[in-house]
Amino acid sequence: VTTVRAAVPDDAEACVDVLRHLPDYFTPNTHDEARAVVGGPHRTWVVDGAVGGEIAGFVVVEQRFARGAEITFAAVRPDQRDRGIGTALVERALAELARVGVAIVEVKTLDASAGYEPYVATRAFWERRGFVQIDCIDPLPGWDPGNPSAIYVAALTPTT
Ligand SMILES: CC(C)(COP(=O)(O)OP(=O)(O)OC[C@H]1O[C@@H](n2cnc3c(N)ncnc32)[C@H](O)[C@@H]1OP(=O)(O)O)[C@@H](O)C(=O)NCCC(=O)NCCS
Repeated sequence: VTTVRAAVPDDAEACVDVLRHLPDYFTPNTHDEARAVVGGPHRTWVVDGAVGGEIAGFVVVEQRFARGAEITFAAVRPDQRDRGIGTALVERALAELARVGVAIVEVKTLDASAGYEPYVATRAFWERRGFVQIDCIDPLPGWDPGNPSAIYVAALTPTT
């Protein structure tokens, strides 16, 4: 059974440690960003790791609009991958967003045109969770050159 709980500020460093174990996905400049948001202004959920003090995975949601929100971080320690932790985290986040009336959820990831193998599984993960790619933006402001951004959205409720 995977227990998802809301993050507290003290979880920030353990969440950054998850990112540190995923250097193919998260560059060091994302670590400070995660440190600043976990347990802070944006809603974050975590799954505790097997070892005390360790976090197995976490998800961060930023809601800037009443009916739209973005998943800004989703990460699971490589040694804990493929056990349903990412799914449990995303399902919890989407359920909470639906509860507060959010209709559309966005996630940005690396586009297939980058030809970067690690993200093949990532895009498949989002697609299997109901996310649909609606755009590719290259360059995306704030992203390093050479990183075409795939824009994915999921509808939690019909909007028409
Ligand atoms: C994407 C991620 C959050 C998913 O978390 P997870 O706990 O591994 O996910 P789950 O176990 O719930 O589901 C994994 C799914 O991907 C598949 N999968 C897992 N690892 C895989 C791999 N290395 N290659 C291909 N598929 C893989 C599983 O078969 C499963 O398939 P399903 O959707 O048909 O059930 C996690 O793998 C991760 O942190 N990846 C690296 C960072 C990243 O890409 N973050 C998102 C940035 S936008």
